[in-house]
Amino acid sequence: MPMQKTTLTYPHVLIFPLPLQGAINSMLKLAELLSVSDINVTFLVTDHIHARLLNHTNVVSRFKKYSGFVLHSISDGLPEEHPRSGARYMEMFDSMKFNSKSLLKELLSCGRLERGGRGPVTCIIADGLMSFVCDVANELGISIFYTRTLSPCSLSVFFSLPKLIQAGELPFSTTGDDLDKPIKSVPGMENFLRGRDLPDFCRSDTISNPRIQLFKNENQENARAQGLILNSFDDLEGPVLDNIRASCPNIYTIGPLHTHLKMKLDGTSSYTTTSSNSLRKEDKSCMSWLDSQPYKSVIYVSFGSIATVTRDQLMEFWYGLVNSRCKFLWVIRPDSISGDGEIPAEVLEGTKERGYIVGWAPQEEVLAHQSVGGFLTHSGWNSTLESVVEGVPMICWPYFMDQQVNSRFVSEVWKLGLDMKDTCDRVIVEKMIKEVMIERKTEFIKSADRMAMLAKQSLSEGGSSCSNLERLVKDIKSTTGVVH
Ligand code: UDX
Repeated sequence: MPMQKTTLTYPHVLIFPLPLQGAINSMLKLAELLSVSDINVTFLVTDHIHARLLNHTNVVSRFKKYSGFVLHSISDGLPEEHPRSGARYMEMFDSMKFNSKSLLKELLSCGRLERGGRGPVTCIIADGLMSFVCDVANELGISIFYTRTLSPCSLSVFFSLPKLIQAGELPFSTTGDDLDKPIKSVPGMENFLRGRDLPDFCRSDTISNPRIQLFKNENQENARAQGLILNSFDDLEGPVLDNIRASCPNIYTIGPLHTHLKMKLDGTSSYTTTSSNSLRKEDKSCMSWLDSQPYKSVIYVSFGSIATVTRDQLMEFWYGLVNSRCKFLWVIRPDSISGDGEIPAEVLEGTKERGYIVGWAPQEEVLAHQSVGGFLTHSGWNSTLESVVEGVPMICWPYFMDQQVNSRFVSEVWKLGLDMKDTCDRVIVEKMIKEVMIERKTEFIKSADRMAMLAKQSLSEGGSSCSNLERLVKDIKSTTGVVH
């Protein structure tokens, strides 16, 4: 008879997100959802992100109540002062590939993470873009789940890149009418996808472009993991998920993660917590400014954590905003403006009457505020989901990557707003703001409310995201071989 096992080993997950605001934000939500489910969590970030989390968030004190949670960091191989936004963000991935792999392997092998009775790491959750983590997991015999913190609709496009190349739809020229040509090789998107809606890196006259190459093998890469965790919900992206499932059968759609956590902790989806995962200092003074504005009268403007604008583009947005005569709350990060980086004095002065500018806002709280009636966004996936949950219609000005796809879905598929991609003109900005905030306000709010309701339903008992999280927790627990 086999000997009875006397010591129980507990499930211990190492979460290793991409070192970007949106990814850190959503993965910290997942970390807390797993901690609530009695799973030990090591949250591994780069030293650069670690310093910012300690400086600007209450992550350490907030997670104190979870005895199995540990925040840990390793180097991304770049000096601290190296720029990590705008066009330079890819340098970070290249550097991590070469520098962080051996550090990760050493960390997992040295026993340091097991201290405090947490036991060895039994499972890794890492971003699918960091394939070196899967190599390490395989070498050490640890289960691995991939997560993608960008949108499934864009992932579906990445999965189809080989088909696009085979069909001759890629590469294409960025001059002439090519950007408006319909794209037919992405299953389920034949009726609305155009060249300009593909991720920005597809605008290349050669398929040897390094980013096309990086994303071309996405589906093979994702299939190496035991499952794929996605921050979305089935009612939003059903047909798209079918396309992804063809390559990765085991998908866990458990989003929108930020609201999922609120529902688990507080039993409500409305904004109640004061927890923040911001890597920058939030300027909360905008909340009292919002308090003094009429119901759904303010357009909130933010282009996320990486996107930059030129001074000319900034001025076009400013004139468009002012000429629309709507009230606006605008996030202009200190590194938002390429070039000299200063906010022009006339913008600061001229904004006092109709608007409010901050360097970084408590965005989830802003979008949940009753005065906010629209969101001029770069269509980052977290921003999009945060807007969806709060029923706020969007005007999209995508910058890169998944954002070009997201903005097309927002306007053409979900009918939650307008897509302003590839233009930056004060007349168009003004026209679109008036359309969303005044002329078609009722129409957009109706579809936004409907989608917000579906999001919340998916997170309720028996809803798709709620059930998928339960399944994920069960599958993670089974990586220990112990049934709880
Ligand atoms: C990046 C990519 O840009 C995006 O396309 C991809 O989907 C994820 O990684 P980012 O630019 O950071 O993300 O945008 P987004 O995904 O929207 O995340 C931004 C996060 O920062 C959101 O969670 C938002 O709430 C938060 N934020 C933004 C603030 O808290 N305050 C702000 O002032 C602006």
